[in-house]
Parts: sequence; structure tokens; C-alpha cells
Amino acid sequence: MKKLKMGLIGAGGIAENRHIPAYQSLSEQVEIVGVHDVNLVRAEEVAEKYAIPHVYANDLDMLKHVDAVTICTPNKFHESIAVAALNHGVHVLCEKPMAMNAEEGKRMLDAAEANHKILMIGYHYRFIDAVMLAKASMPEVGAPIVTRVQALRQRKVPGWGVFINKELQGGGSLIDWGCHLLDAALWLVAPSKPAEVQAQVYQRLSKQPNQINDWGSYDHEAIDVDDHVSAYIRFDDQSTLLFECSWAANIKEDQTHISISGENGGLSVFPFEFYQPKYHRMMETHAKTTEDHQQAGVLQAKNFIDACLGKDTLKSSPKDALLVTKVIDAIYASSEQGKPIVIN
Ligand SMILES: NC(=O)c1ccc[n+]([C@@H]2O[C@H](COP(=O)([O-])OP(=O)(O)OC[C@H]3O[C@@H](n4cnc5c(N)ncnc54)[C@H](O)[C@@H]3O)[C@@H](O)[C@H]2O)c1
Repeated sequence: MKKLKMGLIGAGGIAENRHIPAYQSLSEQVEIVGVHDVNLVRAEEVAEKYAIPHVYANDLDMLKHVDAVTICTPNKFHESIAVAALNHGVHVLCEKPMAMNAEEGKRMLDAAEANHKILMIGYHYRFIDAVMLAKASMPEVGAPIVTRVQALRQRKVPGWGVFINKELQGGGSLIDWGCHLLDAALWLVAPSKPAEVQAQVYQRLSKQPNQINDWGSYDHEAIDVDDHVSAYIRFDDQSTLLFECSWAANIKEDQTHISISGENGGLSVFPFEFYQPKYHRMMETHAKTTEDHQQAGVLQAKNFIDACLGKDTLKSSPKDALLVTKVIDAIYASSEQGKPIVIN
């Protein structure tokens, strides 16, 4: 069987902790043939540790030797690297968020379509067991009425790498974690489409000196991204989504939550529960599900590889990722302009 030749671009945390183990566990279908990082020493370390045969000082050189690349760089570089790869006839799995804004994302989508290549964005929550069960249950939920999404951390600002750098990342809690749950929720309620967004973006707690932070220290003066976001999203069918994400909030405990109240039933994803009126009672169904991010990473990698080899279609399309990016843009614009933003 033909193996997909994979190149890694950006050899930091997510490449090492999610993508390399996923591809290694799928070694009958894929082989990592090369790695590139602007930090050559880092690329060499990773190549040696995981027996990757080639280190490329230049990503364009690597494109001649691979069928696909996995982009794990800061967000600022997603678009230029993805477009170059796609124009070279190379498939792309790019980490989330898709890009710094929807204009960049659209150029990535156009390049994928023009070159007939696969483009997937790493919204791996779609491959989490509980989220997949929720998707399978949506026909019984019926038309969604109100969806609630919370990606809340009490005190977990990621101070390492470039997470708190707006120029390189484009945003903070929203584009780091909130976007995962936003993507999953939009996937669950589709074909309902977001039409208008009203939002407020905060940068308050994280700017205060000497904050408690469970994830180590960070520079409170340097942080220039959102630490808390709330949004109200109205859909084309008048359903709504109440969204909140945070890295630093004065709340009882961290919360990962998606719930949907629909016309025929309702569900909550983490943990999975289903609510339905039956026999003049409200019935509640529980299911044993897992929230295993490593496993989701493997399923995501498998879906991408199968799509590249023409054996499957993507569970996470770049058009969906572009829609998430449009909602993110609208959230930031609404907060900045102090008014609702219409999504085209
Ligand atoms: N899916 C998830 O759950 C998840 C989790 C963490 C990070 N991410 C995403 O993964 C990406 C990388 O995050 P990370 O945590 O691995 O960051 P990181 O800082 O650990 O690693 C980034 C690596 O990219 C390299 N790099 C920087 N600019 C480059 C360029 N132009 N070309 C090649 N290499 C370059 C850096 O030297 C570094 O080694 C980001 O887009 C982030 O949003 C996704």
C-alpha cells in the first residue's frame, strides 16, 4: 500500500505531543520523511529523537520531497506556508486556528481548490468520542434553539512560546481554546449558519501584576491578547449561541461545556447526556464516552491521510474552518466597534 510522505513544518509542542505520535501510530499509512523549523537546532533534536530522516533548513526544499505537510508554526505563518505548499501540489494539515483572519483563510481555501489538494485545519475536537456521539444524536435533538458554549479556565494563561503575543498569534483565549469549542458547536448545529455576532473581549485579569497562574508565570506587561471573551451569536434560522471563553476568570472551576436545547430534545457534550420528553416525563440518557485528545489526534490524522489517498472525505472541511474564522473576526470586530457585526 502507498504510504503518504509527510513533512513537518514547525517542530514545537503540538508537533511533538500530538502529530508525531499520531503519525507514528499510523506507520502503515504514513511516514514522516522530513522536518523543518526556523530553529534548526530544534528541528535536528526532533529529527534525532523520532528518527526522522531529513532536516530541511528551507521549507520550500522540503516540498519537493513530500506528499503532505503538517503546519505547526505560530498562526502568523499558517497562510503563507499553506499556500506555498498547496501551489506546489502538496496536501496540507494546518494547526488551528486556520489563519490570522478570514481574508488569509480564504486565500488558503482558494489555493486548495485551485490545486485540487486536501486542506484540513486541526480542529481535533470533532474527533473526540463525546462530540462524535453528540453529532450522531443531532437528528433526535431536532432544530437547535439555544446552544451554550463555555471554554473557561480559572487561572491558566499559557505563558510559554508565543501564545500571549498578538502579532504572532492574532489573539488569546479565543483563538487558542475557544475556537475549538466554537468549531465543534457550529459543526453540531449545522446547517444553521451564524448570521450576526455581538461580543465583548477582555484583557483585565491577566494584566494585573502578581496574578495566581496554574500554568507558571507570564509577563503581565507583555501580554496583549484577550484573556476572556463573551459573545451572543444569532443564526439565520433565529437560533442562538451563547459563547464564553477564558484563560483567567474569577469562577469556581474550569468548565468545558457545549449544550444544545433543540425542538425535540437536548444534549450536553462533556460528559454526554441526552434529554427528551417521553411518557409525560423528562427522560435523561447517559452514555459512557471519553474525552481523549491523543485518540482524537490519531483519528484526525487518519481522516487526513485517507482523504489525501482518496479513500475518505474530510470530517473537518476547510470551508467550515473558514466560517469559524469569520465568526472569530466578527467577535473581535464587534468588541472593537461596540456594535453587532453581520457575517457574510
Ligand atoms: N490543536 C491544539 O489543541 C493545539 C494546541 C497547541 C497549539 N496549537 C497550534 O499549533 C501551532 C503551534 O503551537 P505550538 O504550541 O506547537 O507552539 P511552539 O511555540 O511550541 O512551536 C512552534 C514552532 O514553530 C517554529 N516556527 C516559528 N516560526 C516558524 C516558521 N515561519 N517556519 C517554521 N517554523 C517556525 C518555532 O521555532 C517552534 O519550534 C499554533 O498554530 C497553535 O495554535 C494547537
